[in-house]
Amino acid sequence: MYILGIESSCDETSASVVEMRDGVRAIRSNIVASQIEVHRIYGGVVPEIASRAHIEAISSITYQALEEAGVSLSQIDAIAVTAFPGLIGALLVGVNFAKSLAYANKIPLVAINHIHGHVAAAYLSNPELKPPYLALVVSGGHTAFYRVDEETSLVEIGGTRDDAAGEAFDKIGRVIGLPYPGGAALDKLAYEGDAKAITLPSPALAGDTLDFSFSGIKTATLNYLNSMAQKGETVNTADVAAAYTDKIVKAIVQKAELALEQSGMKTLVLAGGVAANSHLRAALETMCKKQGFCLCMPERSLCGDNAAMIAAAGYYAYKKGIFADTSLNASASDDGL
Ligand code: KG4
Ligand code: ZN
Repeated sequence: MYILGIESSCDETSASVVEMRDGVRAIRSNIVASQIEVHRIYGGVVPEIASRAHIEAISSITYQALEEAGVSLSQIDAIAVTAFPGLIGALLVGVNFAKSLAYANKIPLVAINHIHGHVAAAYLSNPELKPPYLALVVSGGHTAFYRVDEETSLVEIGGTRDDAAGEAFDKIGRVIGLPYPGGAALDKLAYEGDAKAITLPSPALAGDTLDFSFSGIKTATLNYLNSMAQKGETVNTADVAAAYTDKIVKAIVQKAELALEQSGMKTLVLAGGVAANSHLRAALETMCKKQGFCLCMPERSLCGDNAAMIAAAGYYAYKKGIFADTSLNASASDDGL
C-alpha cells in the first residue's frame, strides 16, 4: 500500500510517499523543504514565521512528492500526518491540509506522534527490524528511552528531566559562534579539539535511573566561557566542542547500556536529529558490538524531521485500524492533549 506522509511540526515542511506491505518498505519520494535559512538570523525557530512558511510550501511540496513517486492521489491508501508534539501553529498547517486532502479525496487519515515517527524511520533503513526493541530518541526537543513491544506502542522508561540533547548542542553552538542549528557544526568542530582540555559535569544522573539532566553541563560550559571572557583569555572553541560532545555522548551511551540491561532488550534503535551525530553513532556502535547488542541507526537523511518516517509510522497505525477523522486537532504537548 501507498501512504502519503505530511510533516510540519517545526521548521521543515515535508511530504513523502512510502510503499509498505509485507516484505516491502520503500521510500518512493521524500521532499523536505527546510526553513533553517529563514530562522538562522534569529538564532532559533520563530514560530509565527514557521507557520507562514509551512502554509506557503505545503501544497506544492505534497504534489511534488506525489509526482516524484509517480503515484496519483487516487492510489494513496492512507494519509499520515504529524499531529503532536511540536509548535502548535506549525502543526495546524499540516493537520488541516491533511484533513482537507483526506476528506476531499475520501482517503483514510492517520494521526501520528512525531516521536513515534522518528522511531519508525528505522523500519525504512532496516528492512528486517521488528519489535521488541529499545528505542533511544535524541532530538531537538526530546531525549528519551522507549520500550517498543509492538510498532504502535512506545512506553517511555527514562529520559531528560530538563533540556534535550539537541537543544543543549544548539545552545552552546550559538554561544561559541556557530550558525543555527549548532548541532551539526559542533559535531565537526569537536574533531579538532581536545576533550580533556576542559572538565565538565556528566548529564547522566547518578545511580540506576535512566534519566538525564542537560542543564548542568550547559550552565558549567556557559560559566567557563564567561570566566574566560572576564579574564580576557582566548577560548579554544574546538576544545569546548570536543569536551562538551564527549561528556554528552558518554552519558547517552552509559544510559543506553543500562536501559538495554534493565529492559532485557537485545536491539537498540537510535532516532531523532541528534542520531546524525557521528561521535554518538561511533560510540554506540562500539558499545553494542562489545556487549553483543544489535544496533539499528537510520541513515542520516532520515534522522532529522521528514515525512517518510511519518508515513512509515502511519502504515503500522493503519494496519491496527487506528484512524483519525475531521475532528482531529493538533497539540503542542507530548501526550497529544
Ligand atoms: O529531530 P530533529 O530534526 O527535530 C526535532 O524533532 O527536535 O532534531 C533537530 C536537532 C537540532 O537540535 C540539531 O542541532 C540536531 O538535531 N542535530 C545534531 C546533528 N545534526 C542535527 N546534533 C548533533 N550532531 C549532529 N550531527
Ligand atoms: Zn523531530
